[in-house]
Amino acid sequence: MNPDDAVCVYGAGHIGCYVGARLAAAGARVTLIGRARVVDELRRNGLGYSDYLGRRGEVPAAALQLGTGPEAAAGAALVLVCVKSGSTAEVAALLGTVLAPGTVVLSLQNGLHNAEVLARRLPACAVLAGMVPFNVVPLAPGRYHQATQGQLDARRHEALVRWQPLFARAGLALALHDDMPAVQWGKLLLNLNNPINALSGLPIRAMLHDTAFRRCMALAQQEALAILRAAGIRPARMTPLPPRWVPALLRLPDALFLRLAQRMLAIDPHARSSMADDLDKGRVSEVDFINGEIVALARRLGREAPVNARLVALMREAEAGARKVWTGPQLLARLRAG
Ligand SMILES: NC(=O)c1ccc[n+]([C@@H]2O[C@H](COP(=O)([O-])OP(=O)(O)OC[C@H]3O[C@@H](n4cnc5c(N)ncnc54)[C@H](OP(=O)(O)O)[C@@H]3O)[C@@H](O)[C@H]2O)c1
Repeated sequence: MNPDDAVCVYGAGHIGCYVGARLAAAGARVTLIGRARVVDELRRNGLGYSDYLGRRGEVPAAALQLGTGPEAAAGAALVLVCVKSGSTAEVAALLGTVLAPGTVVLSLQNGLHNAEVLARRLPACAVLAGMVPFNVVPLAPGRYHQATQGQLDARRHEALVRWQPLFARAGLALALHDDMPAVQWGKLLLNLNNPINALSGLPIRAMLHDTAFRRCMALAQQEALAILRAAGIRPARMTPLPPRWVPALLRLPDALFLRLAQRMLAIDPHARSSMADDLDKGRVSEVDFINGEIVALARRLGREAPVNARLVALMREAEAGARKVWTGPQLLARLRAG
């Protein structure tokens, strides 16, 4: 174990535990900071990972440093921020009390502005935007499963170069990008589907087999593409098809879609969006940081984004307790309603 590979994961949830498990299995000294209930679970069960390729591994609790507060992050050379976007400001303030100047802080979060929020509180650290393009689901206490393919993405920065071999050993290649905002917008376009998945109550694969839910996804993405075009933003391509063709693919009739979208459908049958988990656990979702960004960008341009605004409103209602499982045709009618 190399002490220079001291990695702290702030936010021991789906992503934090999965990435932390893989880095620990690759020989890094990993500290996981999470809620007491999760930390207790890891102390009892250790931490295990598996993925869609059948790779799996176990890290005994004794091989992990576990904590519930920022003091456990002191001394880390690399901090991976893995909380939901709504918790970033709080975590930034906590990290500001303990991190040494020069610590590398990588946000592995969806949304567009988490790295900026962190950087404001951590001006002496190298704070970088990152991205997890794959889905992680918990299978049992302390057991996390990567359900879809994908490598990790991050903003190109010399501070990350020395970490790339560790990520590669862990089986999580870290790709560095010159235009990280384009990658974030490309991922955000795909994440516009998350509230649709949460409202459907279905796993993602089952939702993709439903023509009406696919049309809901196409509506949200097409609206967003038009707003991005008007703003002069070119999202990076995150799927085999360029983003502008994805709505047309989603609108295809079932038989044709099922034939042409094999890669999109090559997804673990239990995979669900993390917004679905948020509704199950009674938590506020990240919808403001995903679909809400399209609504906000439209407003800045003097335009509207009614489909994404309706998705934000429906998630707000669901978060407030008005949980309703929507059928595809019901949701499609609601999103089209003027
Ligand atoms: N899950 C996925 O498959 C997936 C895929 C790609 C990207 N992402 C993105 O990755 C990020 C993390 O998502 P996730 O699904 O891993 O979230 P998650 O499962 O909710 O994990 C975050 C964990 O951090 C905890 N936490 C928050 N503030 C904390 C604090 N101050 N101290 C200690 N623990 C704290 C949360 O507890 P509480 O719930 O009690 O606040 C939660 O247990 C999000 O931006 C998400 O969009 C997720």
